[in-house]
Amino acid sequence: MSRIVMTAAVALGLALGAGSAAQAADTKQVFDFYCAQCHGEKGDGKGINVTKDFATDPRNFTNKEDMEKRSDEDIRGVIKDGGPSISKSPLMPPWGATLTAAEVDGLLAYIRKMCNCKGK
Ligand code: HEC
Repeated sequence: MSRIVMTAAVALGLALGAGSAAQAADTKQVFDFYCAQCHGEKGDGKGINVTKDFATDPRNFTNKEDMEKRSDEDIRGVIKDGGPSISKSPLMPPWGATLTAAEVDGLLAYIRKMCNCKGK
């Protein structure tokens, strides 16, 4: 099972590395692959992995009021270093070892689009 997941991850990595022309589409792929199972494909926090046993609900990125309180730096940091880095839930994993800085920047822009907001 884990081998299948690994293979899928490698295949996706190759596909993502294939060219930066379709940057926006790539970011959607990264989001759907790594984030959507918790945050939901639309970013509404209703991913398929989320059960009532989750101590903390994944952030709803479409909530403008919540998301505009976060600076771009906060969002980049929590993506790279995980929830505990800003005293939030460890259910939000750190992605700094998995994603490149460019991918994190892409996700930041993607999240800003979903909330239709700017950071403070
Ligand atoms: C295993 C489930 C899970 C996955 C996968 C996940 N997250 Fe999260 N995320 C959470 C939870 C839960 C929180 C809420 C933490 C809290 O409020 O204490 C969170 C919070 C966040 C926040 C902080 C919002 C705020 O309140 O400042 C950002 C940004 C974020 N996630 C981005 C991402 C991105 C980008 C990915 C994919 C690379 C991702 N998350 C993958 C569960 C997850």
